[in-house]
Amino acid sequence: MSQEITLHFKTSDNKLHTVDATVGESVMETAIKNDIDDIIAECGGSLICSTCHCYLEDATVAIAPEADDAELDMLEGVAAERQANSRLSCQIIVTADMDGHTILTPDRQ
Ligand code: FES
Repeated sequence: MSQEITLHFKTSDNKLHTVDATVGESVMETAIKNDIDDIIAECGGSLICSTCHCYLEDATVAIAPEADDAELDMLEGVAAERQANSRLSCQIIVTADMDGHTILTPDRQ
């Protein structure tokens, strides 16, 4: 049976959405399943669109694997401001230790 944790999405309209997330799925998939409109994910996670841009809080940065070169390349094309904590949510896999973490989403993709 798959393990569920709680994730929060703080969207650009300043609303906090609390959702169930399945360990092993991506943050992008979690957002799409839960109608988080700020995440578009045009390419469905193939790392060719940059429309799944999100920002990670420090606690998540500390445990998430670093972005690889392909993700860093795609981050150069994000529509909203790129920040040090910018990531593509299709490349972030939900892990059990992300329980209770908050993902921030930009105002445009
Ligand atoms: S969904 Fe297209 S790059 Fe993440």
